[in-house]
Amino acid sequence: MTITFNMQAPWADDPQAKFGPRGFPLLPGGFGRSTYFTGATPTYAVKGSGCTLTDNHGRELIDANNNFTTLIHGVAHPEITEAAVQAISTGNCWGIPNAYEWAHADALLSRFPDLDQVRYSNSGSEAVMTAIRLARAATGRGAVLMTRAGYHGSSDIALSTGNEKERRGIPKGVTNDVFLVDLNDTEGLKQTVEENPTGFAAIVIDLLPNRAGLTALTKDYVETARALASRHGIVLIVDEVISLRLHHGGYIGTYGVKPDLLTTGKLIGGGFPVGAMVGIEPLMRLLDPTRSESIPQAGTFSGNPVSMAAGTVALCLLTPDVIARMNRQGAEARDAIGTRIATVGWHVRGDGSLLRPFPDNGSYDITTQRKLWWAAYERGVLLSPANLASLSSAMSDAVVADIAERLADAVVSVATV
Ligand SMILES: Cc1ncc(COP(=O)(O)O)c(C=O)c1O
Repeated sequence: MTITFNMQAPWADDPQAKFGPRGFPLLPGGFGRSTYFTGATPTYAVKGSGCTLTDNHGRELIDANNNFTTLIHGVAHPEITEAAVQAISTGNCWGIPNAYEWAHADALLSRFPDLDQVRYSNSGSEAVMTAIRLARAATGRGAVLMTRAGYHGSSDIALSTGNEKERRGIPKGVTNDVFLVDLNDTEGLKQTVEENPTGFAAIVIDLLPNRAGLTALTKDYVETARALASRHGIVLIVDEVISLRLHHGGYIGTYGVKPDLLTTGKLIGGGFPVGAMVGIEPLMRLLDPTRSESIPQAGTFSGNPVSMAAGTVALCLLTPDVIARMNRQGAEARDAIGTRIATVGWHVRGDGSLLRPFPDNGSYDITTQRKLWWAAYERGVLLSPANLASLSSAMSDAVVADIAERLADAVVSVATV
């Protein structure tokens, strides 16, 4: 059977349109993911290649969204596509292990000399959720400490970092065990743990939390978290679902601190669904099904051959040199944008190949974010809805300079309205 997919379908201009007997759109609000929403009629992806993407209006955009930082080598990278096609053509998923998992594990673990084993899932959310469960099983404790407004995926426990509105639907039994500390509040961290040191199973940190404002954790905060965890038998979980791109050994490699568990995802699947929990053997052995005390971990598509094959190539292509080039380009873009937007009272934050503009006065509400998203879109740059720009290895210096110029223009247009 051949199905022709209509890229100019009627819903493309009005996703809220009422269709047929249902009387409401096929997707809630017209969206397959809430995180797509940018405050107006969406633009639909039609095709892409390298660092560009064409939408249903025929507009060519420089893709600095990269599916929320996932496509680190750009859209439809030929070698990644070839690996995925090879895996698909011999069977897209199996109910028994496959050799691609071993290749991927080898490529991933070679980046973390201090960590011993990896277990796969389908998303970063699952990886974080499982890491927390593992920490609880290992310690026999329940409490978890996280950064206020940090994002660690869509599990109940991860969403407990949010405000009251975002916590709706999460049982009190879950939120009661979650303790939040403000970004880089080292004193708050110490105090919270010391009040109940034997209650904590895990401290979870994201070293460059986008949702909490794309400001890096200080060395002091991270070292304190490590020291407290070691002193009190707490598991230190470093969430590198995004930040892995910043350094060959993960962003944690720049802090000189050893995690007990490290979660990652996004780029390590080469554009296919993936999550991974990497950790020290004394903890990871709890997932060993040959042991009587093991705890279950599953996922029908976990470690599927396509994600593993494509992800192995993506990881191998992400050499220290490639990372260094992207980080240099990011620094140059931040300098260029920062100089331009300082004149209108904005600044740019980020590190390595990630950057995001903010108004100096802190009035960065959702309306401003959406205005900036559309202003960038109109100038041919695709950002994440929260205005995060992530570079890909498919971008030349000239393309990155172009992004910087267009993004600075977009900020100036929003700031001076
Ligand atoms: C730091 C962090 N952790 C976890 C997640 C969840 O990953 P996923 O969307 O693959 O479930 C995200 C997603 O953006 C993230 O940024």
